[in-house]
Amino acid sequence: MASMSVKLFGKNLRNPVMNASGTLGYGEEIEPLWGIENLGAYVTKGLSLNPHNGNPTPRVWEERQGLINSIGLQNVGVDRFFNEYFPLFKKKKTPIIVNFFGFTEEEYVACARRIKPDNLIIALEMNLSCPNVKQGGISFGKDPEMVYKIVKEVKAVTRIPIIAKLTPEVRNLREIAGAAYDAGVDGFTLLNTMPSLVVDIEKCSVPIRGGLSGPVLRPIALKAVYEIFSSLHVPILGSGGIMNYSDALSFIMAGACAVQVGTATFVDPYTIPKIIQELKNYLEQLRCPRISDLTGVAHG
Ligand SMILES: Cc1cc2nc3c(=O)[nH]c(=O)nc-3n(C[C@H](O)[C@H](O)[C@H](O)COP(=O)(O)O)c2cc1C
Repeated sequence: MASMSVKLFGKNLRNPVMNASGTLGYGEEIEPLWGIENLGAYVTKGLSLNPHNGNPTPRVWEERQGLINSIGLQNVGVDRFFNEYFPLFKKKKTPIIVNFFGFTEEEYVACARRIKPDNLIIALEMNLSCPNVKQGGISFGKDPEMVYKIVKEVKAVTRIPIIAKLTPEVRNLREIAGAAYDAGVDGFTLLNTMPSLVVDIEKCSVPIRGGLSGPVLRPIALKAVYEIFSSLHVPILGSGGIMNYSDALSFIMAGACAVQVGTATFVDPYTIPKIIQELKNYLEQLRCPRISDLTGVAHG
């Protein structure tokens, strides 16, 4: 029997497939369909120190090769997540990665400080695509100095491993990743959505501005994974347009030790369990003993 398990920050995950943050609610929504315990790890919706209402509608927009979302980081707040939703993950012994954000450095730090270490918490995933309201709204993840500073500050207040989730909207991704690495980051999620907008030609207006995800993002995210894998030696989680098992495999071969599936779940809510099963079949057909042996093999 081929092994699907992967090790991340010293903890064993039953497989390398996760949901992408914000695309599987708080976990309980998927319970009637296939059960969160099937995930390698569940990634939370982006959590903040205080709850957020998010943006007015429309919040999602279907594109030809993707999806634009403008949810506006709506969430119940970090305390309510741990009081109300975490017990389900405890009951089902499902590891989690806590995605979190802030609009100031202080908010990031306060949120990270609030999360108590637990055997089931694999890592904290910092969403660095947020605007820094004290610096004119530029996203934290676009400026290497801000990235260095915020990662360093967050690392100082927690012993849980920190993953930096990077935005594709940068001139030099290696420089940004390098700044996070120098500040002591433990891993990367590559990539977040790409800022975009839609024009309604009948109404001469812009109905939505938001983050573009889905297949259109995949080759860009793959390049990011491939490049960062060859320069920085920390675990990488691949995210961007993974629709099926071959997309997932391409991220693993490019250098990801695990993958996150987002937009595909909106097309077919069974995509994640299908990918897990098909990856297993692939390993068995290939007589490959471990999925973890495939990380980075595209580098030759
Ligand atoms: C509806 C929706 C909500 C999202 N919310 C978050 C979020 O709260 N935090 C975050 O870091 N990324 C968020 N993302 C980005 C995804 O986690 C993922 O990185 C991105 O969509 C690319 O993967 P995909 O093409 O498989 O969807 C969201 C994406 C979508 C579509």
